[in-house]
Amino acid sequence: MQLSLVIPTYNECQNIPILIERIAKVLEGVEKEVIVVDDNSPDRTWEVARTLSARYPWLRVIRRMTDKGLSSAVLAGFEIAEGEILAVMDADLQHDEQALISFIREMESGADIVVGSRKVKGGGIVDWSPIRKFISGVATLLTKIALPQSVSDPMSGFFAVKKHVYVSNKNQINPRGFKILLEFLARAKHCKIEEVGYVFKGRVHGESKISSSVVFDLIIALYELSIGKVFPTQFIKYGIIGISGLFVATFVIYLCRMFTHLSEAYSIAISIEISILTNFFLNNFWTFRPKRLLGIWNILRGIITFHAICLGGALINQAIALKLLTFGVDVYIANAFGYFIAAIWNYIINVNITWKGRPEHG
Ligand code: GDD
Ligand code: MN
Repeated sequence: MQLSLVIPTYNECQNIPILIERIAKVLEGVEKEVIVVDDNSPDRTWEVARTLSARYPWLRVIRRMTDKGLSSAVLAGFEIAEGEILAVMDADLQHDEQALISFIREMESGADIVVGSRKVKGGGIVDWSPIRKFISGVATLLTKIALPQSVSDPMSGFFAVKKHVYVSNKNQINPRGFKILLEFLARAKHCKIEEVGYVFKGRVHGESKISSSVVFDLIIALYELSIGKVFPTQFIKYGIIGISGLFVATFVIYLCRMFTHLSEAYSIAISIEISILTNFFLNNFWTFRPKRLLGIWNILRGIITFHAICLGGALINQAIALKLLTFGVDVYIANAFGYFIAAIWNYIINVNITWKGRPEHG
């Protein structure tokens, strides 16, 4: 089979019959399948699509009951696709189905990835607000900076990849990712990328599901696809919590001195213990949220291992700092360096012991 076209849908019952009709015309004679991936839309898009599949044998419909989200819907379609070219297109008639012919032609002449673009010759946008134009411009610029290979319209949801591009990357792709195209572009070092212009039309039926936090989501996504490979976002969160622990400890020492007659040694010991506990809970409910420990026994076990690991970290911190002192390094720098190495150690061991396992909660 030549082409598998994946169409993610959510509440597109009015658009899907028109789109399938248009695709049937444009792709007549192409050996193809069209896979509609619907997340159990309340407007019963899946049912409308299934009715259509009686007339069009190349139309497959997946109704997902538990998984949700645009990126994971696209990946679910790719996973069962049988074609050599895997394409994605929105259901809301904003993407121009005529461009699919150019997609196929580019693929035949050697492209590995083809991107439908609003910003090359033949491309354009109908009725876009200045705000949406501005956001799109910022997004394109950020993507150019962050990724080794970019395109004129990296936010496009209209593109195709050769099957081998999908197969060789599928295990690294983030199904909760924000833009599936970015995931491919970030890993496309040896791929030939082509762009095809198309005019992005206004939506007629239904409404957009894209949230207003796109730029924020994009920054996170680009971070994860670039520097995040060395320092994952999880590590940054862990670091932020680590720094917060210093503030907690300082505050506890202050309280001890103001309101008790405890010696400094005791105050420090108490402050260390309390900051370890706040770090544990903050990490559990923020840094490692998808894998967080729930239930009294799991949390107790987590607290104990976390303590043991922190103790190991403290010893590493001290050992490194003392060693550096013997080379005449300044005490603050020696300690800061020891602290940083200990943080990496704490993080790695905690990921593999305290919060090991696969993400379970959303
Ligand atoms: N299965 C599934 N699950 N489909 C979804 C979901 C979901 O959670 N959310 C959205 N969709 C489907 C919609 O039904 C539509 O077919 C397509 O995904 C795109 O959603 P829209 O809500 O129409 O997105 P948009 O028009 O705001 O954004 C488009 O333009 C952006 C660039 O400006 C999309 O093409 C984006 O991918 C693109 O980046
Ligand atoms: Mn749309």
